[in-house]
Amino acid sequence: MSLVEKVNITTGTGWSQNLCVGNTGPVNSVGFPSLCLQDGPLGIRFADHSTAFPAGITTGATWNRDLMYRRGHAHGLEGRLKGINVLLGPCMGPLGRMPAGGRNWEGFGSDPVLQAVAAAETIKGIQDAGVMATAKHWIVNEQEHFRQSFEWGLPNAMSSNVDDRTLHELYVWPFAESVRAGLASVMCSYQMVNNSYTCGNSKLLNGILKDELGFQGFVQSDWLAQRSGVGSALAGLDMTMPGDGLRWMDGKSLWGPHLTEAALNGSIPMERLNDMVTRIVAAWYQLGQDTWAAPPPEGDGGPNFSSFTNDETGPIHPGSDDKTMAVVNKFVDVQGQGKDFHGRLAQQIAAEGTVLVKNEDDLLPLTPQGRSGVARSDKGKKFRVGVFGEDAGPGRGPNVCPDRGCNQGTLASGWGSGAVDFPYLVTPLQALEAKFDFNSVYMTHFLTNNPPIETSPSILADQDLCIVFINSIGGEGFIASDGIRGDRNDLYAQNDGDKLVQTVAKGCGRGSGETIVVLHAIGPVVLERWADLPGVKAIILANLPGEESGNALVDVLFGDVDASGRLPYTVGKSLADYGPGGQILYYPNGVVPQQTFSEGLYIDYRHFDKHNIPPRYEFGFGLSYTSFAFSNLSVTLTKPITPLPSPRPADTSQPPSYDPTVPDPASALFPPHFRKLKNYIYPYIASPTAIKRGPYRYPAGYTVPQPRSPAGGGLGGNPALYETLAVATLTLTNTGARTGKQVAQLYVEFPAGVKEPETGEAIDFPVRVLRAFEKLELGVGESKEVRLELSRKDLSYWSVRKQNWVVPVGEGGRGRIGVSVGASSRDLRLWGEMGVDGWIHRLLDE
Ligand code: NOJ
Repeated sequence: MSLVEKVNITTGTGWSQNLCVGNTGPVNSVGFPSLCLQDGPLGIRFADHSTAFPAGITTGATWNRDLMYRRGHAHGLEGRLKGINVLLGPCMGPLGRMPAGGRNWEGFGSDPVLQAVAAAETIKGIQDAGVMATAKHWIVNEQEHFRQSFEWGLPNAMSSNVDDRTLHELYVWPFAESVRAGLASVMCSYQMVNNSYTCGNSKLLNGILKDELGFQGFVQSDWLAQRSGVGSALAGLDMTMPGDGLRWMDGKSLWGPHLTEAALNGSIPMERLNDMVTRIVAAWYQLGQDTWAAPPPEGDGGPNFSSFTNDETGPIHPGSDDKTMAVVNKFVDVQGQGKDFHGRLAQQIAAEGTVLVKNEDDLLPLTPQGRSGVARSDKGKKFRVGVFGEDAGPGRGPNVCPDRGCNQGTLASGWGSGAVDFPYLVTPLQALEAKFDFNSVYMTHFLTNNPPIETSPSILADQDLCIVFINSIGGEGFIASDGIRGDRNDLYAQNDGDKLVQTVAKGCGRGSGETIVVLHAIGPVVLERWADLPGVKAIILANLPGEESGNALVDVLFGDVDASGRLPYTVGKSLADYGPGGQILYYPNGVVPQQTFSEGLYIDYRHFDKHNIPPRYEFGFGLSYTSFAFSNLSVTLTKPITPLPSPRPADTSQPPSYDPTVPDPASALFPPHFRKLKNYIYPYIASPTAIKRGPYRYPAGYTVPQPRSPAGGGLGGNPALYETLAVATLTLTNTGARTGKQVAQLYVEFPAGVKEPETGEAIDFPVRVLRAFEKLELGVGESKEVRLELSRKDLSYWSVRKQNWVVPVGEGGRGRIGVSVGASSRDLRLWGEMGVDGWIHRLLDE
C-alpha cells in the first residue's frame, strides 16, 4: 500500500460521512474495504429489524457463561448480516466504582472477575460470528460528568487518578481476559488517567495494553477522545474515530492529512504507521472478513442500513454537501427465525438476569389463578390483582426519545450510544394479561405513579395482590433528561416511585393485601424507604431486560423458570454507604477536574466488607424457589506454589517487517480533478512544500528503551499467570422441592500481615474477592460436583515493586490463602485454607 492508502485505514472519514457511526477509508487497489464500526454493547444502534437484548448488567446478573456467550454470538450474527465489521462492545469499563455512574449498566457488574468472564464470553461469541469485538472503555472511565472535553463546558476532560496496583487488580483485569479471548479491538476512553489523556498515554497503550497484555489488535479512539496527532500515534493509538479531530464535523482531523505529513516529515516513523495498519488489516484477516462480499460497485457487501435515516433511500454521505441518494436501508431482518429467533434467547437471559431478593411467606411463584395456597374467602369471587406504576406499561412507545434518553413507559434499557431501537417491547402488563387466568383473576391496572387513590380508595382497598412497578434510569452523558445528565443524581427510585410503593403497600387490601415490587434500573437502587414495610412481601430487581421484558418477568413471577439471578453489585442502604470513592464528582474541582481513586481496591462489596457495613442485599445475593446445600469442599494444589511465575517466555514470532522508506511527498497529493466532499476526511496533502524534514522535538526520555514487562509474554500477559495452581471441588445438592439453578461462588481470602519483601511495605487485602463461579441446574434431590479452577493470577496480588503478580505465600511459608464457597459474598457455606505445605479443609460452622 502507498502512504496515503495506509493512512486511509487508520483514519475515520468523519462523523456521518458514511452509513455507520464509524467508517474507515478503503484501499481499493488491494480490495481492502471501508470498515463499518457500529454501537453497541446490547444490540445494533440505529438499525431496524434487530434485537434489543438485555443490557450487560442483566447479563452479568445471570452469572451464566453459556448465556453470555450465546448473547455475544447472536449479537455478532446480527452485526454480520447488517454488514458491520467492528461492533463497539462489550463494555467493561465503567466497572461500577460509583453506583450512580451513568454507564455501569452497559457492563456486567462491579467485580473484575464477573466482568472479565462475561466480557470474554461475549467477545468469543461475537468473534465466532466473524465480527470484530471492541473492549471499551480503556480505562478507568467511571463517570459521565466531565468525561469529555467541551461536552461539559470545560476545555479538558477530567482525570481519573489511580495507583498501579488498583489499576491492575480491578480495572485492567477484564481487559486482560478480553485480550486472552482473542480480542480484535480496544477503544481508549475520553478522560485522562493520571493527567494524561488515555488515547495519548504511552504507559497505558504501548506499555500495559500492548506489551504487558500482549494485545495484537488495534486501539481505536472513542469518538473525539483523541487529543493529539503525533503524540497519540507514538503512544500507541492505531485508529482515530470518527476521524474528526478536536471538534465534531469541522473536517479537521488530527490524523488523515496530518498523519501523512507526519510520516513524510519524519515525526512519525514509518514503522509505527506500518504497525497501525498491520494491526487493523491482520484483525480483518483473523476474523475471516476477507471472505465477505465486497461493497458496491464490486459486490453487495458493506453496511445495508444507515445510522442517519430510517427511510429506504437516503444520502450516502449524510454529513457532507454531497446530495447523492441511494437505497441505504435494505431492512434486512437479522433477528433469527423459528427456534433460533433471538427474542427467545433475550427472554431467557432477561429471566435469568432477574434477581428475586425478598419472598416472604413464599408469595412467589404466583399461579395463573392468583396466589397459591390462599383459599378464597368468598367463593365465586375472583382473586383481585392491581397493577400500579407507569413502569408496567408502554408509555408513548419504547423508541419515543432518541437513544432512549428519557424515563417513560416501562424501562428496559439505559440511554445513550449503548441503547438500540426496540423492534418491539413486551411490557409487563401485556405479559401479565396473557398469563393470568381471567376466569379466576380480576386484574385492574393504573399505569401511573400517581393513581387516583384519594378519590377512589377502592382501587387499593379491593385488591388481594398488588404489583407495583418502579424504576431508575440514567445513561451516557451526552443526554440530559429530568435533571439527570448521564450519571444519576441519587440512588432512589425515580418519578416518586418510592411514594407509590409506600402508598400501595399500606393500602393494598386495606393493609391485608400482599405487595410485590418490581424494579427496573440501570444499577443499585436504595430500597430503604419501603423494603421493610409489612405489606411488601416480594421484591424483584429486574435490571434492564430488553425487548422481552414482560415475558421474562412473568417466567420468574410464575415460576416457569426458577429465580436464579444473582446481584452483580451491592445494594447498599444509602449512597453514602458506598464510601467517598463511590461518589460522582458532580462539580468541577479544577480546570481539569480531578477524581482520585483513594479508596484503591475497596469498591462495592470490598468496601462494605472492609468497613463492616451491612448492605441491604450483598453482592452475589439472590433467592431461588428451591434450596441448595454445599458440601465436600476440597482443594488440590496442582503445582508447587512459588511466589513468582516462571519468567516471561521468549518471543516465538516476529512482527512482519516492511520497507521503512519514506516516500516522495508528491505521491501523497490529491489526485488530479479530485472532488472533495465538505468535512470529509481524506489522507491526501494539498502541497508538497508544506513538508519539512528535520529534527522533531520528541518528549524527554523518548529514546530511552523501556524495559519489557516481566508480566507479559502472551495474550493477556505471561502464560504462566494462567496456569492452574489449585482446583476446588465441592458438591452442590438441590434440597428443595423443585428444579432450580444455583451459582457456586468462590471467594479468595488473602493472608494478613503480608509485606513486600524488599521494602517491608504492608500489602493490604480486601476481606475476600470473587475468583471463580459456576451456575448449575439441579433437579429435586440431585447432587452435582462443581469444579472451580484457580490460576496463579487468581491467587496473586500486583506487586508495584516487582511489576509482577506475586502469590503471597511460598518462600518462608508466609501465611495461608483462604477459600470460601457459598451462595453470595456474605452467605459462605464452606471454608478452607491452603499454604505451601498443602490444603486444610474445614466447614465454616465447625
Ligand atoms: C461515545 C461512546 O462513549 C462510545 O461508547 C461509543 O461507542 C461511541 N460514542 C460511538 O457512538
